[in-house]
Amino acid sequence: MRKLAVLTGGGDCPGLNAVIRAIVKKADKHGIEVIGIKDGYHGAVEGDFLPLGYQEVSGILPRGGTILGTSNRDNPFAYVDYNKDATVSVDRSDDVLAHLKAQNVDALLAIGGDGSLHIALELAHKGLNVIGIPKTIDNDLMATDQTFGFQTAVDTAQEALDRLHTTAESHHRIIILELMGRYAGWIALYAGIAGGADVILIPEIPYQFDKVAKAVDMRAQKGKKFSIFVVAEGARPLGGEMVIERQIIGRADPFKLGGIGTKLGKELEAYTKTETRVTVLGHIQRGGSPIAYDRVLATRYGVAAVEAAMEGDFGSMVALRGQDIIQVPISEAVDKLKLVPMNDPVLAAARSLGIIMGD
Ligand code: F6P
Repeated sequence: MRKLAVLTGGGDCPGLNAVIRAIVKKADKHGIEVIGIKDGYHGAVEGDFLPLGYQEVSGILPRGGTILGTSNRDNPFAYVDYNKDATVSVDRSDDVLAHLKAQNVDALLAIGGDGSLHIALELAHKGLNVIGIPKTIDNDLMATDQTFGFQTAVDTAQEALDRLHTTAESHHRIIILELMGRYAGWIALYAGIAGGADVILIPEIPYQFDKVAKAVDMRAQKGKKFSIFVVAEGARPLGGEMVIERQIIGRADPFKLGGIGTKLGKELEAYTKTETRVTVLGHIQRGGSPIAYDRVLATRYGVAAVEAAMEGDFGSMVALRGQDIIQVPISEAVDKLKLVPMNDPVLAAARSLGIIMGD
């Protein structure tokens, strides 16, 4: 093992730089060179690289985002030149292999979520040595207990809830906080509990409007004239659909969710006659410095990925299992999302507290 390439693909999340730093430092200890690929698979197709040494990773541990840049719409197997014709896609995966070969790269470390790791797996099928590293604030990747970035997003959302509590109480209002997470309710569930929400609505449990609205009445009867709702962007009413904000051409999943908070807010205000406000936390959940937990997890993933490459354990992804970092086949992590199961102990704890889950 003489040279590694690393890329960050898909939506960014706190901790990406911590992984890159760990990879470079660990590799350096073993005399392995590292190059970064710019803007995810875009740079892999176009051959856009930058050398990564001690100098480049110095001071990046606390920094949010990724020093490499990222992209969540560039797929080498269906590559679109957005400057020309956005409706035409071509297979440029051979270009990726050719660029890496020309750079004498022995293995690619792909830091990504479901979409980016799926591409990594396809490249592995074409003979490329690949190791996957699981990232996403959504925590929706199979085969790992946790992705890095998730805990930081939860922390950020919890802080927002603390702030919303004081204003909701002062004005006797309902305040709805809409959170990210795509089709999974992990961020909403954890942040809702940590932030003392009265109602938490997640995609896995379609909600019944009357049950949710009655929660406000029940609280009023107990003298609580305000309520805090946490609504995952993928939440939907029983028998209804998720709210799609827009469609994005070129993405593996073209649907960008958003808007359920506003929809529910209008309905709740009309039904309960309680003034209602909606906050959409959005990309604040993705930006900024990773908390200590994610810095440690990201660092462990980076170190383990280099070790896996040195052992020749290709086609695998580093994963957290209990307290341990293990290697699992990438194929176990992709194509099926890890949703909140109905027997999840954290969900059970929320129910035990009397938090309304909408069912
Ligand atoms: O997957 C991470 C995520 O932040 C989701 O929670 C959210 O649905 C999506 O990405 C937003 O994507 P974009 O950055 O394109 O708005």
